[in-house]
Order: sequence, then C-alpha cells, then structure tokens
Amino acid sequence: MSDIPVIAVDGPSGTGKGTICSHLATWLGWHLLDSGALYRILAIAAEKYELELNNESAIVEIAGSLDVEFQQPQPGKDITVIFEGDDISQKIRTEECGNSASQIAVLPQVRTALLDRQRQFQQAPGLVADGRDMGTVVFSDAPLKIYLIASAEERAKRRYKQLKQKGFNVNLPRLAAEIAERDTRDSQRTISPLKPADDAIVVDTTTLDISEVIKKIENLVQETLPDAYST
Ligand code: C5P
Repeated sequence: MSDIPVIAVDGPSGTGKGTICSHLATWLGWHLLDSGALYRILAIAAEKYELELNNESAIVEIAGSLDVEFQQPQPGKDITVIFEGDDISQKIRTEECGNSASQIAVLPQVRTALLDRQRQFQQAPGLVADGRDMGTVVFSDAPLKIYLIASAEERAKRRYKQLKQKGFNVNLPRLAAEIAERDTRDSQRTISPLKPADDAIVVDTTTLDISEVIKKIENLVQETLPDAYST
C-alpha cells in the first residue's frame, strides 16, 4: 500500500459527496476520484454497444480497457468525462444512468476489473476518493474515512434541485422512488455493499447546509491530517 494519503468519502446519493469531494480536492490541491463516474461510464458503454446490464463478461471486457479521460474540474464545476472521444459529462449525470450504473455495480467481476483503475488515482500529494466502497474496499488503509448520511426525504430534495439546476426534467416523487431503489440495491448487494467502514466517521448532513458540512469536514481533515493543508 502506498504512503500517499487518501481521504475516503462514502455514502448514499444525495448526501453532498460530489460537491464536498470536489471542494476538498481543490482546497487541498489533491487529486479527485469520482468512482461513481466509472460505473456510470460503463452504463453508457452498455447502451452504446447494446449490452444487457447483466452481461458480466462483456462489461468486464470493456471495464478492463476503458478508453476514458477525466479532466480535473475547475473549482465548483463538474468533472469533464471523455469516453471514446465523446464528451459524456452531461449524459452520465442523469438519474437513469445512475440507476443503470447501480445494476452494473452488483457484478463482482466488474468491481474487480475496476479496482486497479481506481487505485491508480492515488497520486502525490494525495487523493480525495468519492464512492460507496472507498473506505471499505478500494482504499481500506485510508487515514481518514468519512461516511455521509442524510434522511431519504432530504436527499431526494437535494438531488431534485441539483438535477433541475443542470437542466434535467425531473419529477420529485419518481426521483425519490428511484433513489430508494438504488440505495436498496447498493446496500444489499453481496459484493462491496454500501456501508460505513468500521473506522469511518459518520456525518449526518440532514440539517446542515453545504457550507456547514464543508466546515465540519475541513475540521476533520485538519485534526486527522494536520500536514495535508500545507502540502
Ligand atoms: O455516486 P454515483 O451516484 O455516481 O454512483 C452511481 C452508482 O454507481 C451507485 O448507485 C452505485 O451503485 C455505483 N457505485 C458503486 N461503488 C462506487 C461508486 C458508485 O457501486 N464506489
């Protein structure tokens, strides 16, 4: 295992992980891994190549040689994702894509095929890793593991606002049902289920706004990794 520090941030969708991780990476000058994007890209690939979402061997093959480029975001901007030459940054953000991604994410060999790819993001001076199994599996040695939670109602409202801002046409009750379905699948799968690592710090963000969550997490970083901010 590498000495390069990792901050693992896990939790269900709508807890603010993406915004917080992007902020932390910019604040620290560290690299950022949006691991959910890898599963979302596979969902786009499955659609492009007309594969069933449970076609494990075909999806593993794509995962093993994924032609993808991530461009580190500007502060406050979403990551740019180029797949096989196409900019799919917008396309991967739909709830439909998230749902397909979560169906692919239950496939054990696909998860294994993505392990090395994710670990390659661990580059100096450090990595902020956003996902579901960053603290439990991919970076189980991370010196700081944060697990974000929020009530299901609050998470659905946040996702609704976020998707609207991105220009997507969304319906709140349907979105809430899709998120619930995705959470159940993510937390009940047999391989790498969504759950906090034993040594994760659980932060409930239900009643906090994003700036309060950021402040809280910056404090945790300064307590746990006092040298990080000066790197
Ligand atoms: O985080 P995001 O919503 O982009 O993730 C999409 C889906 O990818 C999740 O619902 C989950 O099923 C899967 N995922 C995963 N492990 C990760 C990141 C995402 O299984 N580390």
